[in-house]
Amino acid sequence: MKMRISLTHYLIRSERAHGTDPNLRLLIETVARAVKTISHAVGKGALWGGNEGGVLGSLGSTNVQGETQKKLDVIANEILVEANEWGGHLAGMASEEMDTPVGIPVAYPRGHYLLLFDPLDGSSNVDVNVSIGTIFSVLPAPAGMSEDDDRAFLQPGRNQVCAGYAVYGPQTVLVLTLGHGVVAFTLDRDTGSFVLTQEDIRIPADTKEFAINMSNRRHWAQPVQRYIDECLAGRTGPRGKDFNMRWIASMVAEVHRIMQRGGIFLYPWDKREPDKPGKLRLMYEANPMAMLVEQAGGMATDGRQRILNIEPTQLHQRVSVMLGSRNEVEYVTGLHR
Ligand code: AHG
Ligand code: MN
Ligand code: MN
Repeated sequence: MKMRISLTHYLIRSERAHGTDPNLRLLIETVARAVKTISHAVGKGALWGGNEGGVLGSLGSTNVQGETQKKLDVIANEILVEANEWGGHLAGMASEEMDTPVGIPVAYPRGHYLLLFDPLDGSSNVDVNVSIGTIFSVLPAPAGMSEDDDRAFLQPGRNQVCAGYAVYGPQTVLVLTLGHGVVAFTLDRDTGSFVLTQEDIRIPADTKEFAINMSNRRHWAQPVQRYIDECLAGRTGPRGKDFNMRWIASMVAEVHRIMQRGGIFLYPWDKREPDKPGKLRLMYEANPMAMLVEQAGGMATDGRQRILNIEPTQLHQRVSVMLGSRNEVEYVTGLHR
């Protein structure tokens, strides 16, 4: 029988091969445990929590970005915070769903890492039973900085020591990088363990598939309009090939498709809210996905520069995102020059 490699086994192997810090292993295992709990809640849907009425639907509240919070946004956030505060591996946490970072309660020891997450990505898909996910990023905690201070977190994405996402689809899959390529684990629901199911994921350099919310076309900047128009022109147009289009409205699910078969995903700046550089959040969405995509041989830019080189100025800052198959991202980035 072929040996099944669990997440822990993989991380210990990585410890031996690359000297991965055991505390980072503990951190990833804790995030993975939280992800299992979220996956369970997602799977229960309307049945979750007995008479608490399930995980579907909205709360009356809005988050710091002014978005209506879904019940599952808040449930997933709480699961991640509670799972990670006592293990001693973290110095602080920041989330898309929390206005300010949370420090570690004084009762627990502090570690040397900062954890950032989008607890529930694709909120608009929760109630319609379409794939959603969790995205996370791990940064080193700067020495001597207070962890509930935003500034500790304001580091460029290239500082990340680990990034990953979980996609809650027909299967729950955890995709991870520690800076040595990208691997994927599938949740075995019978045994409750994450089993290594893909090693060394590579994104094909070329693609004929793009993902963008086309309804915003009139709001895009000229280079993005031109790029998509060229794709739509197909075989007889400047690109000389027919393109296919997908839009799931869950970044996690889009990136997972790109990890499997290539493609390009764009959420560009648009002029609906000119002061905001885009819809997606740099610290919780763009940075971790950019690290994963680069580690799989792809490319991620904001149209001008590598996402991982952006120096953040605010915890909840937004960014324009173009990522996926290298040659395609290079092409659309070139149109911005
Ligand atoms: P979130 O649910 O964390 O707010 O993120 C949703 C994001 C991203 O996952 C997705 O690609 C995009 O918003 C969908 O935007 P549209 O509503 O424009 O389709
Ligand atoms: Mn999101
Ligand atoms: Mn979210």
